[in-house]
Amino acid sequence: MKPLRIAVAGKGGAGKSLISGTMARLLARHDRQVLALDSDLQPGLALSLGAAVPAEPPLLAAAEKDEDGRWRLRKGIGPVRAVQRYTTAAPDGVRLLQAGKTTDEGLAPLMGAIHAFYKVIHRLDEAGSLRDWTILGDLPAGPRQVAFDWAPYAEHFLLVVEPTWPSMLTARRVMRIVRIREEVTVSAVLNKATSEADVDRVRAFGFEPLAVVPADDAVRDAERRGVALLDHAPGSPAVAAIARLVTALERR
Ligand SMILES: Nc1ncnc2c1ncn2[C@@H]1O[C@H](COP(=O)(O)OP(=O)(O)OP(=O)(O)O)[C@@H](O)[C@H]1O
Ligand SMILES: [Mg+2]
Repeated sequence: MKPLRIAVAGKGGAGKSLISGTMARLLARHDRQVLALDSDLQPGLALSLGAAVPAEPPLLAAAEKDEDGRWRLRKGIGPVRAVQRYTTAAPDGVRLLQAGKTTDEGLAPLMGAIHAFYKVIHRLDEAGSLRDWTILGDLPAGPRQVAFDWAPYAEHFLLVVEPTWPSMLTARRVMRIVRIREEVTVSAVLNKATSEADVDRVRAFGFEPLAVVPADDAVRDAERRGVALLDHAPGSPAVAAIARLVTALERR
């Protein structure tokens, strides 16, 4: 089974975290070892995975400053050890690596973890023991992290689009940046679809969606309760559509 290396991007609120978290667990249920990467400084992926994460990012312990005051990974910490020590267990055997979440004092207390995260993701391909792992990254909204190389592991970018102009315009922008890297492929998933007209709308915009995820009340219900969609409503139309998306990605 070929490991997948996917980054999920798109406009704010498009459904990136819902789709990445649910996909990560479904991929794990297909007997894949899955590493979920969360570089968003706002909460999202842990909730959709159903993972309980410590308030302080574990990666803080992986970073130190050198003589010039620049952050580096502590001696002896490479990608394998980082995944062993600083990931959090999520359901279905998924491992979650987080850069950390903004605190009351802003980003200052997190800087070590953010630098450590960036360094680790840039060294994932050094690690022979991670070669068979499926890696799935949930990127924060918009094109910025894509432009600044926050998903170097990605062989495929999944653009989550809502059937609205702002969402499609953002996805197009992200796509142009992604395409600078010749070796990567891109596809779109339409989320919050309410009709066939929505599908036509994204097609007319130039995206042929790999999957269509319907607008589904179960998503908000799950969020209201603070549980993962997959645990709250495993038989919901949204979960069924994300399962089809996983199959489509595995077949590519
Ligand atoms: N298929 C869906 N049906 C109904 N509501 C949805 C669906 N997908 C996402 N939502 C709602 O849209 C909101 C955004 O979802 P999510 O947090 O997954 O998006 P995101 O792209 O990760 O957002 P952010 O840019 O803030 O990281 C959530 O409140 C969620 O309930
Ligand atoms: Mg999100």
